[in-house]
Amino acid sequence: MKKFSAGLQELTILETEKIRVTRYSEFLLLYLENLNFSQQIICDFGCGTGVLGIYAAKRGAQLVTGFDIDPDAIDLSKENIEINDCFNFQPHPIGNSVIDETYDFIISNPASLPTVKASGKEFFSGGIYGIDMIQDLFDFSAQHLKKDGRLFFLQTSLSSINKAANYAHDKGFNYKIIGVFQTEIRDHYQEFWHRVEHNQRTGDAHFVEINGVHSEIVYLVEAKYRERP
Ligand SMILES: C[S@@+](CC[C@H](N)C(=O)[O-])C[C@H]1O[C@@H](n2cnc3c(N)ncnc32)[C@H](O)[C@@H]1O
Repeated sequence: MKKFSAGLQELTILETEKIRVTRYSEFLLLYLENLNFSQQIICDFGCGTGVLGIYAAKRGAQLVTGFDIDPDAIDLSKENIEINDCFNFQPHPIGNSVIDETYDFIISNPASLPTVKASGKEFFSGGIYGIDMIQDLFDFSAQHLKKDGRLFFLQTSLSSINKAANYAHDKGFNYKIIGVFQTEIRDHYQEFWHRVEHNQRTGDAHFVEINGVHSEIVYLVEAKYRERP
């Protein structure tokens, strides 16, 4: 369980070994403090513990809808919604065809490490360039973001910024970096690190190395429609 303050909100979030609140989530929450959620319709895409959606609901959102590919994340979000007395946040499995909403803001901390996707790796794996979930996010946003809506998400420099930005462009969005932080890479497990070094050679991954310590850069991205088709 993690207890912390985000803006003026005190949040208590249950975690499991698989589904956690990470440094990334806390960084995104810091930026979200600047947004006015009042009366907005929000989507938390890849809700995990539900931390981002709960935060948005507590900041006055009219309605928050969460989606996740992992059924365990939906169950965990529901528990956290109850613990935090949050009544206007509903999590659903992704692909729930009864949901036909459009959103003022879509917020997401996508799984974006460059590893092959597989069962049990949903929390962090973004496919070989780390952008599979980011592509899903843009596909979803192209259907569900309001005309003047805004999409906020994080992307690590260990994934391909160029490929994600090109995908966004092809979907009719601009891709603008509005925030950045650097954080140490703690887990160099073999398959993941091998892929990062491979992708770095083609410009599809970047990291910082100081005295043998590797760090990633995490970008906060804002995307809006360039123009409506
Ligand atoms: C890095 S976690 C972030 C969780 C939470 N939003 C947070 O900030 O702590 C990414 C979440 O996205 C979910 N996910 C992975 N691929 C997805 C996809 N294609 N569509 C929707 N959710 C996905 C994972 O199950 C996981 O819960």
